[in-house]
Amino acid sequence: MPISWDPQSQQFHLRTDSVSYVMQILDNGWLGHLHFGPPLAEDAAYTYLGPRDFLGFSNRQREPIPLECPTAGSGDFRVPALVVEQADGSTVLDLRYKSHRVTPGKPALTGLPSTYVEVGGEAETLEITLVDAVCGLEVELRYTIYRSRPLVVRGARIVNRGQTPLIVRAAMSASLDLPDADWTLLTLNGDWARERQIDRRAVRPGRQAVASNRGVSSPQHNPFIALARPSTTEDRGEVFGFSLVYSGNFLAEVEVESFGSTRIRTGINPEGFAWFLDPGAFFDTPEAVLVYSAAGLDEMSQAYHELFRTRLARGTWRDRPRPILINNWEGTYFDFDEKRLLEMASSAKELGIELFVLDDGWFGRRDDDTTSLGDWFVDKRKLPGGLESLAGKIEAMGLRFGLWIEPEMVNRASRLYEAHPEWAVGIPTRPRTEIRNQYVLDMARPEVVDYLFGVLSGILGSAPISYVKWDMNRYITEPFTPTLPAWRQGEFMHRYVMGVYALYDRLTKAFPGILFESCSSGGARFDPGILAYAPQGWTSDNTDAIDRLRIQFGTTLAYPLSSMGAHVSASPNHQTGRTTPFNTRALVAFFGDFGYELDPTRFTPEERAQVKDQVAFYGHWRELFQFGRFHRLVSPFEGDGNDAAWMVVAPDGRAAIVGFYRIQSRTNAGPKRIRLRGLDPAARYKVSVWPATSTPEPAPSLPLGGDVLMAQGVVIEGNRMNMEMGDFHARLYVLEAQ
Ligand code: DGJ
Repeated sequence: MPISWDPQSQQFHLRTDSVSYVMQILDNGWLGHLHFGPPLAEDAAYTYLGPRDFLGFSNRQREPIPLECPTAGSGDFRVPALVVEQADGSTVLDLRYKSHRVTPGKPALTGLPSTYVEVGGEAETLEITLVDAVCGLEVELRYTIYRSRPLVVRGARIVNRGQTPLIVRAAMSASLDLPDADWTLLTLNGDWARERQIDRRAVRPGRQAVASNRGVSSPQHNPFIALARPSTTEDRGEVFGFSLVYSGNFLAEVEVESFGSTRIRTGINPEGFAWFLDPGAFFDTPEAVLVYSAAGLDEMSQAYHELFRTRLARGTWRDRPRPILINNWEGTYFDFDEKRLLEMASSAKELGIELFVLDDGWFGRRDDDTTSLGDWFVDKRKLPGGLESLAGKIEAMGLRFGLWIEPEMVNRASRLYEAHPEWAVGIPTRPRTEIRNQYVLDMARPEVVDYLFGVLSGILGSAPISYVKWDMNRYITEPFTPTLPAWRQGEFMHRYVMGVYALYDRLTKAFPGILFESCSSGGARFDPGILAYAPQGWTSDNTDAIDRLRIQFGTTLAYPLSSMGAHVSASPNHQTGRTTPFNTRALVAFFGDFGYELDPTRFTPEERAQVKDQVAFYGHWRELFQFGRFHRLVSPFEGDGNDAAWMVVAPDGRAAIVGFYRIQSRTNAGPKRIRLRGLDPAARYKVSVWPATSTPEPAPSLPLGGDVLMAQGVVIEGNRMNMEMGDFHARLYVLEAQ
């Protein structure tokens, strides 16, 4: 069994072949943390890793005692995992062990996204209940360990078993104490159109945090951090990953205290948060996924990719190859009618594209972004026959049809706002802030969720719709809902997210055949929480291939390729003005859910030929790109950032594709070797360059061993590339085992 309990040493040991997580009930009943990291022998007691007596201090407060659920105000001065205000206004808690139980599998969370099991015995869950005798608060700490994954999934339920109401002011999903501070902190930061850029810095004494207070997980920071040893690389060294399965305001924080230990906590951002608990009521935190790897960042990412792709994402499309789509947004923006869309679709169909997505502008009277959000009825000026006619004609061409929606929003200029101004989030006594000319609907109101479910079900059922792009284009300001009393307003931001999850849940269940893609001004809500409903997301509004190298590279630290929408767009690029070779754009976008974001009727004959080849190539290798094992090879965040490389390998190791990218040409550059990973060392691979016509450099004529490709790599001739390709060069190596 992966979870063992030893009453004699009072020790819990969660163990797989790759990790151990050890806890102990200390003499006074506190739940101490002993170890998370490499697997330890199953039958030993690790009491000596626990705290030692510190003479003269009744509560041993001078020691940085590692605890599973630390609280504040009684001697632990580090950041707490739980803060609960009691009837007298005090917040001190003393949580002591009460009971525990081990269950097979993993219980689901109600109303929140969570990882799951599919076959019995795949995982076990330990629930440990701690209690504060004074106020009656109970904390159920949950730990799930999967037999074959190097990770622990954590979360907590806070239950008020006392006689008076309590206010939860902070409730972390996980808090972990590590015994030293020799770590670097990796975070994914950015902003609109430059999401998830990797930052790595040393941890220092004191606190370092990333967080969101925008109502979405945000493009500024992602709810993922990692602690890696300074010497850790992609394929060597220790790293811990911390990922929060949540789409709203989050906090991920690291604190190094004065004795040099490190505490990490992650959960809902306590800033602005307060949850009122009547006697008998409970609060569930979102869950956090803690990964440990002794073999570098690559192995940590593999653990997240596989868990998120196969045990967080769900539904019909989880394992299904994703269609090659074309989206009209950058091709037309708001300026289209049925005729133009059908011309685009027909042109796309000739090129082999499989799905046509109609983006923003099909409803109300939306000719720009000032009106109509909330008015989910077809604009008959543009589409006289409605969606049914358009989708029907597109289907008749042999393409699937997809539709953009932005359910959570309303424009002031809309019928919905006229009818229900009170549904827009805001404080009645203050002006509401408009962002992109729109307000946010109060998703904390069940009637808003019901209304949206009704109206959107009507649309999705009115035409053959196979795909939905669910957008969310602004942050939340003036957080407030008149549906809650004054003392409960701190619940609003979390209730909003729960409302979004409820709507996603209902729509995905009502339309199980539809592929949902999440979006939030590009990648502002690209997080594990949303992945539980939409198995893919629009990675960024920035479609520039060169900027995408960093965005996609950073995203893969925690997210699988199958979750990343990646499209070829027109050149010069609409976000950066940069002109890049056509194939370079495709060779970057192949590493994700591939598609196009342009007007295909404007292609030159040469571009049409290229697109046909790209579509055929991606179609052939799609499952490898979407579901293969992904490895980062050369980081655009390191060195001079001029080169990048990555690869995908088939699960059986029989095929692989390597992408190499050079941003600016290098004069008089020597050959560069890119060492590959994840191949079968005993296999011999035929190596070809794709497309064959794009490179002056012949592929190696003889098959090469997986061993030599991993030890020495493929060789890239810098000079030839310069002369023939200039800047923004990209090439693919296709490896097939003989
Ligand atoms: C933001 C999205 O990220 C874009 O792809 C596009 O759908 C626009 N919104 C439409 O308003």
